[in-house]
Amino acid sequence: MGQRFGRPALQIDGGQVGAAAQKQLPLRPAGPDTVRALLAWYDAERRDLPWRYGPRKKADPYRVWLSEIMLQQTTVKAVIPYFEKFVARWPTVRDLAAAQEETVLQMWAGLGYYSRARNLKKCADAIVRDHDGAFPSNETALNTLPGIGPYTAAAIAAIAFGEKATPVDGNVERVIARLFDVRTPLPLAKPEIKHLAATLTPSRRAGDFAQAMMDLGSSICTPKRPSCLMCPLQQDCAANAHGTAETLPLKLPKGVRPVRKGIAFLVMREDGSVLLRKRPEAGLLGNMLEVPSTAWADALPARKEALRAAPVSAQWWALPGEVVHVFTHFRLEITVYRALVAEDATLTLWAEPERCRWVKRRDLHGEALPSVMRKIIAHGLKDD
Ligand code: ADE
Ligand code: SF4
Repeated sequence: MGQRFGRPALQIDGGQVGAAAQKQLPLRPAGPDTVRALLAWYDAERRDLPWRYGPRKKADPYRVWLSEIMLQQTTVKAVIPYFEKFVARWPTVRDLAAAQEETVLQMWAGLGYYSRARNLKKCADAIVRDHDGAFPSNETALNTLPGIGPYTAAAIAAIAFGEKATPVDGNVERVIARLFDVRTPLPLAKPEIKHLAATLTPSRRAGDFAQAMMDLGSSICTPKRPSCLMCPLQQDCAANAHGTAETLPLKLPKGVRPVRKGIAFLVMREDGSVLLRKRPEAGLLGNMLEVPSTAWADALPARKEALRAAPVSAQWWALPGEVVHVFTHFRLEITVYRALVAEDATLTLWAEPERCRWVKRRDLHGEALPSVMRKIIAHGLKDD
């Protein structure tokens, strides 16, 4: 029975698929022809950007580098006026190296992610000091410079020097995932996508190939509604053939954040001030003020153990409820202990008295207090 039904069903099924595929254009797996079609499209449609050069003009590595640093986490539209301003003021990497860091930071103001500007200056200094003012041309050497990671190293090598390198940004990731109908979710798919992109990269015009992929991703193969009908790669695109384009790339759900717990000690002095402490320079909320607390750990310490971390010895009152604050990488749950102390109360050594300060309640708003600490103080002073 099963066999008799099974075989004709398969044949019908196969016949239907075959007929449908014949009506559509047959899928041509992405390869050298795809690259040719993409480069032809780029030659006709490329965006005219101030760091780009005509087909036969050599790119200036300084301008390519500067644009790539500015384009990290920032849109092309926002970058253009800053780029123009920078190259007008500092036309070469030597000019930039001769500038004051403070001036560079001022000119950068408004672009955000200021560590990029500090690294920009450091990198210019290193190029002049260690490379005689000339950018190295290969990915490995570029990758050792300040502010230049694997993506930027590949972008500069390909775009400025024509080396066969493959920068993969979010746009390129999306185009590749669709071209090859990659169903593995990100970030797991990163190595596979990188490999597929590298396989497509031509030895000639690697820089144009990279920028063509970026342009295609930002104008046609867009995240939400790709314009597949206008796409030069439509015939080669597996996602288009399978109807999966809009759903790709798949993404793993954002992992549930780990939870950290701790006990914060809100000390109030009889004169109406609270005890705050400056956090260490390195790490989360560096150099900001905090309410002293136990370490933030997987579980709350027992009361007796917690009190060993208290900044004063006093009668501690554990407040009901907890303060919850969500950081990028974890969720913090803080229980607040409160105590009232006399004006001559002495701090325990554990509190690191040299980093502590008493701040009047009415002066709290002007202090460098991150929002999690403001929440802790508000919770601790509730009903007070
Ligand atoms: N994003 C990052 N680099 C780019 C480039 N060279 N062209 C267009 N978009 C980009
Ligand atoms: Fe992207 Fe559609 Fe072009 Fe495929 S056909 S590359 S999904 S725009």
